[in-house]
Amino acid sequence: MRMYDIIKHKRDGGELTNEEIDFFINGYVSGKVPDYQVSALLMAIYFNGMTQRETTALTFAIRDSGDKLDTSGISGIRADKHSTGGVGDKTSLVVMPIVASLGVKVAKMSGRGLGHTGGTIDKLESIEGFNVDVSAERFKRIVNDVGLSIVGQSTSLAPADKLLYALRDVTATVDNMPLIASSIMGKKLAADDDCIVLDVKTGSGAFMKTVEDSRRLAELCVEIGKKAGKKISALITDMNVPLGNNIGNSLEVIEAIQTLSGNGPDDLVEICLALAGEILFLCDMGSRNECLSLAKEALDSGKALKTFAAMVEAQGGNKNWIYNTDLFPTAKYAMDVCAPKSGYIAGVDTEGYGQASLLLGAGRNTLSDKIDYAAGIVLKSKPGDYVKAGEVIATLYSNTNNFVNAKEKLIAYTVISDQRPLKRALILDRVE
Ligand code: URA
Repeated sequence: MRMYDIIKHKRDGGELTNEEIDFFINGYVSGKVPDYQVSALLMAIYFNGMTQRETTALTFAIRDSGDKLDTSGISGIRADKHSTGGVGDKTSLVVMPIVASLGVKVAKMSGRGLGHTGGTIDKLESIEGFNVDVSAERFKRIVNDVGLSIVGQSTSLAPADKLLYALRDVTATVDNMPLIASSIMGKKLAADDDCIVLDVKTGSGAFMKTVEDSRRLAELCVEIGKKAGKKISALITDMNVPLGNNIGNSLEVIEAIQTLSGNGPDDLVEICLALAGEILFLCDMGSRNECLSLAKEALDSGKALKTFAAMVEAQGGNKNWIYNTDLFPTAKYAMDVCAPKSGYIAGVDTEGYGQASLLLGAGRNTLSDKIDYAAGIVLKSKPGDYVKAGEVIATLYSNTNNFVNAKEKLIAYTVISDQRPLKRALILDRVE
C-alpha cells in the first residue's frame, strides 16, 4: 500500500477502506508517513468528506494508536464529559465535582486552550501548586479516594490525535465534521469510560456555528460511541454568548468556585446541572428528573465544593484558595470598557471576545507562549441587558498594560440596539 494512492483515492472522491485508514494512521504515528502527505490527505478529506463508516474507522484507528487508560484498580462506574470548546466554558470544574460527590468515578484527562477557546488544564494550573501531571498510580489513588482527578492528556493515549490536531491547526483543516468527531471520540474511547456525555457547543463562539451542524456532529459522535459499546448522549448548548461572566483562567476558576458555593450565574448553573444530571442518568442513578435533583442537592449542600477542594489538595494545590478566592493573585492592571451608546445589548461575537481575552494574555498564540493566569475579561452586561451610554459593560485585566486592541475588539463585537433581543434557550437539544 502507498500513501500516494490513498491521497489520490480520497482526492478523487473515493471512500477509503478500513485498511487504508489504518495504514495512514499507523504510518503517521510511527514516523513512516511524513507531515506533507498527511496534510494533503487532510485537505482531501476536508473537501470530499467521509462516510459514517470511514469516520468510525478513523476514530477507532486513533483510539488504537496508543495505550488505553489503565483503569485497573479503580472501583465503580466511570464517567466523563467532553465539551467541543467555547468561551468562558468552565463547566468541567463544576460538573465533574458534582457527579464525583455522588459516587461516580471521574478519571479525567483534559486539554489546554485551543485557538480562541480555553482549556481546563490551563485553568487548574492557575491554582497555586496544582499538579496536572501526576503518576498513573497517584492518579488512580486520587480517583479512588476522592472520586475525582483531572490531569493533562497522556502522550501515550491516542497519540494520533495529538499529531493530527497540531497539523490540522496549521493547515486550516480544524473545522471539519469527520475530523472533529474522530478527534473527540478517538481520545474519549481511549480513556475507556463507561458513560460519556458530550456538550456540543453551537454559535459564534463554537467551532460549529449552526444548530444543524452541531446536531449532525452530535449524532455522528453518539453513533460512534454506541458502536464502541459506550453509554453516550449529547446536549447541544448555546455558545452565541460567553458562558457565565468571567473569561480567563483564574477568573474562570473563581467563577466555578462561586458556582460550587451556590453563587453562580444563572446560565452557568443551568448548563452545569443539565450536564451533571445527564451523566447521572447514564450512570443509572434514577430518572432524568431525579438525577437533576440529585445534582442540585450536591451543589446546594456544598458536597460538590468539598470534592473539588479535596481534588485540589490531593493534586498538590493550595486548598485555602478554594475557600478564599481573594488569595488568587489579581492582575496588575485593569481597564473598564464602556457602552458607546444607550440601548439593549442585542448580541456579541463570542469568538471575538475569546480573541480579546487572548490579546490580554489569557491564552497562547504559539505552544511555547506563557499564560498570564490573572488576565481576562469580566462581563458586567450580557445580551438582553439595557445599558446607558458610558456605563461599564466589561472590565479587562492583564499584567501588561496594553489594553488598546482588546478594548477595540470588545466594542466592535458588541451590538447595541433599541430592540430588546429575544431570550435564547441555553439547551437546544439532546441526542441519544
Ligand atoms: N475538540 C477536539 O477534541 N477535537 C477537535 O477536533 C475539535 C474540538
